[in-house]
Amino acid sequence: MFKINPLRKRQFIGGVTGVLVGVVAFFMLTLESNESYVSVGPMNVGHDDISCVACHAKAKGNLLQQVQSNISHAVGARKTDVDFGTKDVTLNNCLECHDRPNDRHPTHRFSEPRFKDAIKVIDATTCITCHSEHHGERVSVATMDYCLNCHQDLSVEDDPLDVDHKTLIANKSWSTCIQCHDFHGNHKYEVPTKIKDTIPTQIIKDYFKGGVDPFGNDKKYIGLSQDEWIKKLNEK
Ligand code: HEC
Ligand code: HEC
Ligand code: HEC
Ligand code: HEC
Ligand code: HEC
Repeated sequence: MFKINPLRKRQFIGGVTGVLVGVVAFFMLTLESNESYVSVGPMNVGHDDISCVACHAKAKGNLLQQVQSNISHAVGARKTDVDFGTKDVTLNNCLECHDRPNDRHPTHRFSEPRFKDAIKVIDATTCITCHSEHHGERVSVATMDYCLNCHQDLSVEDDPLDVDHKTLIANKSWSTCIQCHDFHGNHKYEVPTKIKDTIPTQIIKDYFKGGVDPFGNDKKYIGLSQDEWIKKLNEK
C-alpha cells in the first residue's frame, strides 16, 4: 500500500510554504518600493512637508521576516502575527510633534473610569478618532455636537452669556459649544458672550474641512517641523 512518508510530507509543506512566502514577499516588496506612489489621498492641513516615517515607523524585522512570521502564524506554527511593513499609527506619533501641556482636553485624561461610557461614543483617548489622515482635511469628526457626551452636567458660575449654558443645554443646543469654544484651547482669542456673535456652523464645517481658521492664527503652540522632529530624535 502507498503510504506518505512523514518526512516527505514535511518537505512538501515546507515547499508550499516557501512558494507562498516568495509570492507574498514579491507583492509586499513591489508595494514597498512604490510606497510614495500608493494613492492614499492628500495629506491633512499642515502635513505636506512631513515624511511618511514620522507616522509610519518601520515594524520589527525586514519585510521577508515579517512575511515569514505571518505565514507561520497563519498555519498555526506561531502564536502571534506581526505588523507588516509599518507599525500602526498611534497617539504617540502625534504627540511627538504635538505634545501640548495646555490642552484642555488632553487624551490621557479620558482613560479615567468616569469617561467609560463617553469613550464608547467618542474615543477621545486618541487623536485619530477626530483627525484621520490622508483626507486633505483638518478635523474628521462627523458631527460638531459631540460635546454632549461629556458636558451634560455642566454648570457655569456667574454665567456671562446672554443665553446661559444651562438654557443652551436644556434646549439641546449642542452645536453652539464649538461655535464659541475651540476644542483644545490652543487659540489666543476672546470667547464671545452673545449668541449673535457665535461663529456660523458653515464656517466651522469649512474649518474642519481645511478652510480658514475662525479662531484666528494666534496660537499658544504649533507642531514641530520635520527638521525639529529629527533634531529631537537625535537628541534622544
Ligand atoms: C501625520 C501622520 C501620517 C503621515 C505623515 C502619513 N500617514 Fe499614512 N496614515 C496615517 C494614519 C493615521 C492612517 C490610518 C491607518 C492607521 O490608523 O494606522 C494612515 C494610513 C495609511 C495607509 C493605509 C494603510 C494602513 O496602514 O491603514 C497607507 C498606505 C499610508 N498611510 C501611506 C502613507 C504614505 C505613503 C505617507 C507619506 C507620503 C504617509 N502615509 C504619511 C498617518 C500618516
Ligand atoms: C513630524 C511632526 C508631526 C507629526 C508626527 C504630526 N504632526 Fe500634525 N502638524 C505638524 C506641523 C508642523 C503642523 C503645521 C503647524 C501647526 O499648525 O501646528 C501640523 C498640523 C496639524 C494639524 C492642523 C493644524 C492647523 O493648522 O489647524 C492637525 C489637526 C494635526 N497636525 C494633527 C496631527 C495628528 C492627529 C497627528 C498624528 C496622526 C500629527 N498631527 C502628527 C507636525 C506634525
Ligand atoms: C474628540 C475629538 C478630538 C480629539 C480626540 C483630538 N482633536 Fe484635535 N481638534 C478637534 C477639533 C474639533 C478641532 C477644531 C477646533 C480647535 O481648533 O480646537 C481640533 C483642532 C486641532 C488642531 C488645530 C488647532 C490647534 O489646536 O492648534 C490640532 C493641531 C489638533 N487638533 C491636534 C490634535 C492632536 C495632536 C490630538 C491628539 C493628541 C487631537 N487633536 C485630538 C477634535 C479633536
Ligand atoms: C470625552 C469627554 C469630553 C468631550 C467629548 C468634550 N469635553 Fe470639554 N471637557 C471635558 C473635561 C473632563 C473637562 C475638564 C473640566 C472637568 O473636569 O469637568 C473639559 C473642559 C472643557 C472646557 C473648559 C476648559 C477650562 O479649563 O476652562 C471647555 C470650554 C470645554 N470643555 C468645551 C468643550 C467643547 C466645546 C466640546 C465639544 C466640541 C467638548 N468640550 C467636548 C470633557 C469633554
Ligand atoms: C456665546 C458663546 C458661548 C457658547 C454658545 C457656549 N459657551 Fe461655554 N463659555 C463661554 C464663555 C464666555 C465662558 C466664560 C469664560 C471662559 O471660561 O472662557 C464659558 C465657559 C465655559 C466653560 C468653563 C466653565 C468653568 O467653570 O470654567 C465650559 C466647560 C463651557 N463654557 C462649555 C460649553 C459647552 C459644553 C457649551 C455648549 C453647550 C458652551 N460652553 C457654549 C461662551 C460660550
